[in-house]
Amino acid sequence: MEVKDAIMGRRSIRKYEQKEVEDEKIREILEAAIWAPSAGNTQTWRFYVVRNRDLREKLMKASYMQKQIIEAPVSIVVTFDRDEIDKFYGRRGVELYAIQDTAAAIQNMLLRAYDLGLGTCWIGAFNEEEVASIVRVPPIERPVAIITVGYPAEKPTSTRKPLDEVVRYVD
Ligand SMILES: Cc1cc2nc3c(=O)[nH]c(=O)nc-3n(C[C@H](O)[C@H](O)[C@H](O)COP(=O)(O)O)c2cc1C
Repeated sequence: MEVKDAIMGRRSIRKYEQKEVEDEKIREILEAAIWAPSAGNTQTWRFYVVRNRDLREKLMKASYMQKQIIEAPVSIVVTFDRDEIDKFYGRRGVELYAIQDTAAAIQNMLLRAYDLGLGTCWIGAFNEEEVASIVRVPPIERPVAIITVGYPAEKPTSTRKPLDEVVRYVD
């Protein structure tokens, strides 16, 4: 698939087929994640793959009952290691670089998943402490997102503001 087709065709999927996702495809998605750029190539991101239904139900509850978490067969919780990024870049690393690094990794995951015929939803609205405890994230890590992965059962559309509204050419 052309990169442009993946960028333009991907949409957030919140309804999924009741069908498992192959381990190999999840591995491909994680492989795409780790090839994202990161500040100083520090790669402080971490990924927790959750297939267990009880755990996903808990994740759904910790995410204000967002049902796509229980509908999709896989959730991937993305975190970063606060200590590691702090060691390299201090406060700017913890507050800015690690957020950008994990976001770049997540976007790679969404695009690769789409390329593999899968749907995803990037979920940011959740209780961090609860999510950390459900997937047993060590205290030095901060959960930043939950990514649901599964075979899509909907074809949503979404629009964008026109370029003119968001771009400024400066000289
Ligand atoms: C940082 C971030 C947090 C998000 N959190 C949620 C969320 O909690 N629940 C949800 O359903 N979608 C969430 N989304 C998905 C957005 O709603 C979605 O990307 C946006 O509406 C554009 O739609 P599209 O992805 O289909 O193009 C989030 C996206 C981002 C980047």
